[in-house]
Amino acid sequence: KRIAVLASGRGSNFQAVIDGIASGYIPAVCVGLITDNPGAYAIERAKRAGIPVTVVDFRSFAGKQAYEDALLAAMQESGANLFVLAGYMRILGAGIVHAFSGRMMNIHPALLPAFSGLHAQRQAVEYGVKVSGCTVHLVDEGMDSGPIVLQRCVPVLEGDDEHTLAERILGEEHRALPEAVRLFCEDRLLVDGRRVRIR
Ligand code: GRF
Repeated sequence: KRIAVLASGRGSNFQAVIDGIASGYIPAVCVGLITDNPGAYAIERAKRAGIPVTVVDFRSFAGKQAYEDALLAAMQESGANLFVLAGYMRILGAGIVHAFSGRMMNIHPALLPAFSGLHAQRQAVEYGVKVSGCTVHLVDEGMDSGPIVLQRCVPVLEGDDEHTLAERILGEEHRALPEAVRLFCEDRLLVDGRRVRIR
């Protein structure tokens, strides 16, 4: 399988995918990093791994539609079968979601459907939940709302703030995302409406 990763920032989840491919855990090649942010540290990670980088800089476009048209073109040109959103911080328009339906997954730092959207870890601390975690899900038109592929949980400890919780969750993200990508690449995900079965 050919996978492309979309990331906006640090790229530690992207790195986990790179490492999973390098070790043979994920049977795929990474054909590209696509980023909306020319300053993303993920770009350095791609360069180090010899992965082609496409920057579709949101700020260089007149509006959201022009940006999305360019992003769609970049995604099509990558030739990827699977698009992994790893800290990609924008909501994708319906055109892109439909073009790659069932072939796009996202990692979110909470146990969905709780705490979707931004600052999920802060939301969890403020709500006072005792467990949180991460979710890998397929992307649909909503925000963090597509069918769930897998989840991993962590305790929320007394004295946690959003940063300590985020760090604990991130450790699980780095396990969950390569696992989900591997399952996709092995054709082991069966999508049945909202439910994803693993065979
Ligand atoms: C992760 O917590 C991810 O779940 C969220 O943004 C963060 C990205 O981190 N969507 P990184 O760029 O992968 O290090």
